[in-house]
Amino acid sequence: MSGYNIKNDALHIDNVALSDIAAEYGTPAYVYSAQEITNQYERLAGAMKKALPADRQPLLCYACKANSNVAVLAHLRSLGSGLEIVSEGELHRGIKAGFDPQKIVSTGVGKQASEISECLKAGIHQFNVESLPELVHIQKIASAMDKPANVVFRLNPDVTGGGHHKISTGRKRDKFGLNRERIFEGFEMAKEMSHVNALGLSIHIGSQVFTVEAFKQAFEKMPDIVNDLREAGYKIDRLDIGGGFPIIYDDEKLLNLDAYAQWVNDIIVPLDTEIIMEPGRYLVGNAGVVLSEVLYIKETQERKFLVLDAAMNDLIRPTLYDAYHGIAPVENLDAPRTKYDVVGPICETGDTFSTDRELPQMKAGDLAVIQSAGAYGFCMASNYNTRPMPPEIFVKGDNVSVIRPRQTYNDIIDIEAIPDWIGQKE
Ligand code: LLP
Repeated sequence: MSGYNIKNDALHIDNVALSDIAAEYGTPAYVYSAQEITNQYERLAGAMKKALPADRQPLLCYACKANSNVAVLAHLRSLGSGLEIVSEGELHRGIKAGFDPQKIVSTGVGKQASEISECLKAGIHQFNVESLPELVHIQKIASAMDKPANVVFRLNPDVTGGGHHKISTGRKRDKFGLNRERIFEGFEMAKEMSHVNALGLSIHIGSQVFTVEAFKQAFEKMPDIVNDLREAGYKIDRLDIGGGFPIIYDDEKLLNLDAYAQWVNDIIVPLDTEIIMEPGRYLVGNAGVVLSEVLYIKETQERKFLVLDAAMNDLIRPTLYDAYHGIAPVENLDAPRTKYDVVGPICETGDTFSTDRELPQMKAGDLAVIQSAGAYGFCMASNYNTRPMPPEIFVKGDNVSVIRPRQTYNDIIDIEAIPDWIGQKE
């Protein structure tokens, strides 16, 4: 697993022992490696640099739904990244993290009025439009504000991609994108609109796309439609080719980034447009762990449970997508191995991180990590069972910074109110 290293039979992130972090900040906690994020950014940008001509380098817009802590965003901004946002909240995060609005693209099927107007006010690069009513909505708001809106239309390529059906987005039946006819209609409508500039197309087929041919299939839909749109007189200056690059969670064979970059070069570059990409998971997924303490070893006649203090409210991916995450002790990595069901304290059986997982033997009080939790981890956490959200901790070299403190019970409970019409027992 990348993202951390082993020194003296104990897990470290950069130079910092995870046991020291647990002692200082408690568990459960999210811990991220800035260096690993840098490495992934450079791998992706490097693959593009190698395969694409210098004047066709893509604008990498980090899909911040994957991990939206403002420190993580600021770190990616410092590496040169742009930002892909799906809500007004993510726009505010991006602005706080110092992104140039001209490097921000707004996506999503349900853009709300205030989100559109805040994006126009900020002067973002473009809206990726998902429906014709959305196009009309954008024109209405843009003309009322007298601000121009740059838009591209999201093509639904009818390609199956994505590691789980819940995160596949490019099939005809999915709620995402527009088919070819609708895209032509969109360009035609935009021509008549006073405040909309239709500039190109976008595509995004899903997340954790392991059938790498799916990317190629989706890209191959582009040239025809781009040429036909141009023939019809429309300007196509931008192509946003989305995100979806997979990471290793278990022993999957990783997408060959160079092959991917070559497809971009062979299929997209000849169309002679600005190129935008929206990587999320690839940049941050392997850079984070959930650091947790073993509360109990519970043995029944049937099973042996390793009960952690982390739960499905902290990391919901195993419960929601049956996702695999590696699990490891923080120390004594060479202890004899045994099989555990690794579970959290929440009152439902779905609160299970793994079943029958062979791990070095552990005991109550030991520390463990759940790996590859840097993407879609903290940002999908909740307060279920009135469990405080864990802290997020960012490590670089010897530096350890709390970039979000652990919630307190007051944080959760004080904002709730008992109406005065609820009386005492009569
Ligand atoms: N662009 C668009 C329009 C997207 O909808 C997404 C992800 C991305 C880019 C970034 O995709 P990535 O490079 O991270 O694969 N919660 C799920 C993943 C949901 C992905 C949603 N859209 C999970 O935990 O696996």
